Amino acid sequence: NEGSLWGARFAGGPSPELQRLSKSTHFDWQLAPYDLAGSRAHARALAAAGYLEPGELDRMLTGLDALEARVLSGDLVAADSDEDVHGALEAALIAEVGPELGGKLRAGRSRNDQIATLVRLYLKDHAATIGRQLVHLIDALAAQADQHRTAIMPGRTHLQHAQPVLLAHHLLAHGWSLSRDLERLADWLKRADVSPYGGGALAGSTLGLDAAAVARDLGLAAPAENSIDATASRDVVAEFAFVTAMIGIDLSRIAEEVILWNTREFGFVTLDDAYSTGSSIMPQKKNPDIAELARGKSGRLIGNLTGLLATLKALPLAYNRDLQEDKEPVFDSVETLEVLLPAFTGMIETVTFHTDRMAELAPAGFSLATDVAEWLVKRRVPFRDAHEITGALVRYAEEHSLELHEVDDAALAAISPQLTPQVREVLTIEGSVASRDGVGGTAPAGVEAQFAALADRVRHL
Ligand code: ARG
Repeated sequence: NEGSLWGARFAGGPSPELQRLSKSTHFDWQLAPYDLAGSRAHARALAAAGYLEPGELDRMLTGLDALEARVLSGDLVAADSDEDVHGALEAALIAEVGPELGGKLRAGRSRNDQIATLVRLYLKDHAATIGRQLVHLIDALAAQADQHRTAIMPGRTHLQHAQPVLLAHHLLAHGWSLSRDLERLADWLKRADVSPYGGGALAGSTLGLDAAAVARDLGLAAPAENSIDATASRDVVAEFAFVTAMIGIDLSRIAEEVILWNTREFGFVTLDDAYSTGSSIMPQKKNPDIAELARGKSGRLIGNLTGLLATLKALPLAYNRDLQEDKEPVFDSVETLEVLLPAFTGMIETVTFHTDRMAELAPAGFSLATDVAEWLVKRRVPFRDAHEITGALVRYAEEHSLELHEVDDAALAAISPQLTPQVREVLTIEGSVASRDGVGGTAPAGVEAQFAALADRVRHL
């Protein structure tokens, strides 16, 4: 079985059916640059321990560099007979430097500690990319908020008009939740930044290789403390899949609002042409496909996470081939987000807000009723009574098709002697927003302070 990593103890080669099932090069070839980086680090450890002469190490490293150049140029790809990226690259190394030297590299390592290391290297790189993309999105939300510092919109609970809020406050709310995703990526790295190399198949190596040097070489913080855990655990992969799913969910919540705001009924936003799509039959259509794809792809990200968790459940220690099923879902989550995030950010950067329309609707639905109740409380009316009085006022206004500020003095007094005409001072959306000046509230000064606080949080992640 030429070019295979195993076979001597077998009477014959694997069946074609097994080969087809077992093959992983169509997805793990992505790990080739990391596999070669691992091989370079491992070769240095072998040389340091006396298993490669200095001249041999030089030839080995030159050979590995040559393979890397060929992988990057696309000249070297996995052959049909290769089972996985590790076997394919060993066969290519042997072709490059000869069987005598090429056959020495595998000493003291297993595909089990290799693959566990490579997936971490891959995820670490992509965590950095996704982190940068998230920062761009947070910046885009903050820039839109900055351009609409005084605009007021209807704040909602249960999707019903609740209380007026600043548009900037609402946009920054999404920025804050995304900043926690960024924090999750940074926190994930503390657990991911470990090198399983040296764990071997499961029990460690007899060759006295310096695992700490290999970890350093690969840019990982430390070697793993337990070789069984190192080769058999994939919680780090599952956690990454969770973070990507959470990002997807956070995007989907923005997306759902953009979709609603973009309807004729809301009329809160217009999407830029470059970030909208048309219909093949209805010439007038301009659709929010980026937002819809974000909403849809969040389901896919959740699916990748739950599939991976199902794979890991009840898996005995140590390595089992089931673990090969970790890669396709998490690779898919990475690829999905890395394509989605820039499009989503472009949509946010270019969306136009119709602040007049938002302001017009902000007081509708008696959204200033809480302001009336709290105005009464400030006049020492117990809140329970204030709630009752305000409820009666809302009912009166609704029955007479009036807004709260349109109820006349006599009607106010008839509802309650406490409702003096001064109450109209709080019956403007500007007054309402300005009065919510407690910590985290929507008053302009508080929202103003959030810009620096959010930027500061993001910068420290
Ligand atoms: N392709 C495997 C994986 O992704 C690594 C190889 C380990 N294979 C083995 N038979 N021990 O997990």
